[in-house]
Amino acid sequence: MVADTRSMYTVPKLDDYSPAALDQAARELKSALESESAAIAVEAEWKLLRDRCMARKNGVLTQLNDQWLKAAPAPAKRDVGQRVNELKKIVEEQIDAALTRISSASLASRLDSEGIDVTLPGTRRKLGVEHPLIRTMNEIVSVFKAMGYSVAEGPEVETDYYNFESLNFPPNHPARDTQDTLIVAGQQNKALRERLLMRTHTSPVQIRTMERQPPPVRVIVPGKVHRADTADATHSPIFHQVEGLAVDTNITFRDLKGTLDQAAKAMFGASVRTRFYPSFFPFTEPSADMQISCFKCGGSGRLDSGRCGMCKASGWIEILGSGMVDPNVFGFVGYDARKYSGFAFGMGVERISILKYGIDDIQLFYQGDVRFLEQFA
Ligand code: PHE
Repeated sequence: MVADTRSMYTVPKLDDYSPAALDQAARELKSALESESAAIAVEAEWKLLRDRCMARKNGVLTQLNDQWLKAAPAPAKRDVGQRVNELKKIVEEQIDAALTRISSASLASRLDSEGIDVTLPGTRRKLGVEHPLIRTMNEIVSVFKAMGYSVAEGPEVETDYYNFESLNFPPNHPARDTQDTLIVAGQQNKALRERLLMRTHTSPVQIRTMERQPPPVRVIVPGKVHRADTADATHSPIFHQVEGLAVDTNITFRDLKGTLDQAAKAMFGASVRTRFYPSFFPFTEPSADMQISCFKCGGSGRLDSGRCGMCKASGWIEILGSGMVDPNVFGFVGYDARKYSGFAFGMGVERISILKYGIDDIQLFYQGDVRFLEQFA
């Protein structure tokens, strides 16, 4: 910091100690100090001024003492002494005032830069959106909730009993081979039914639900399932299903068809038609896969541009497996199969989401790529 010496006040020697001359000298000192103090903007400048005024050696106050008071002739001493005291006070006040001013100025500038303007909109965090898979899953669930189903869930690490045996897959039954199972290692010493595995479907929650409550049952079960599959554009070792189960007196295959037809219309549009054809699951008898008429080509298999790729020109798209609960399953949960009947169904969420949104690679669901996800915002 270079001080401007031209504007720096120095205490003049006095030859005239008359009151008028003293008044004049005091006024000059006051105004010089006021303007110096007013010019101060930063702390370093303020320190210079303070030191110049207060320094024992040659500071303004010392000079006042030496040059005015000590030098004054005896008769003027009293008057000069009084004035010097007053001037000392003024000098101190000016220094204090300058400090107050710069610190409030720097506070003001700090507030300016750090302050929060509560009238500004604020930093907006982008709202996340529902993942397309979760969205599809929630949509399916709400279709059934609207029909009076309640939501149930079960564990992903499941026992052999719940995943297979109680669903009428006996040990070593070839039907088990249809679900390439990931099993938890190191359980050879346990009974087969207690061995842990990653559930291959949400159907074990059928059993868990029926074990917990007597009929009537209406449950919808969203969840994650696992199969020993190599990941590619159409496969994933982890995927999602929504399971449904209805058990009551007098549940018939017509109820199954009516319910699933209604759900398909709610999910894919009112003009969608459904058809059922025979299938096999150990825990349902009879079993049926459901197809919907292609919502892209309307079931004709043809588009103006040519062959419909959505349904591979067949006009139909398979979306779920279903069937009437096998009486053997009721046997496992202690339901009276002569009194009760029911239907169950299960669908793959990825498949439905892929169909609905025209997604061409199942892996997109799991990669967390914002460029994919933000298309659903
Ligand atoms: N759990 C069967 C599967 O994953 C689907 C299904 C559920 C079939 C319920 C019929 C009844 O393939």
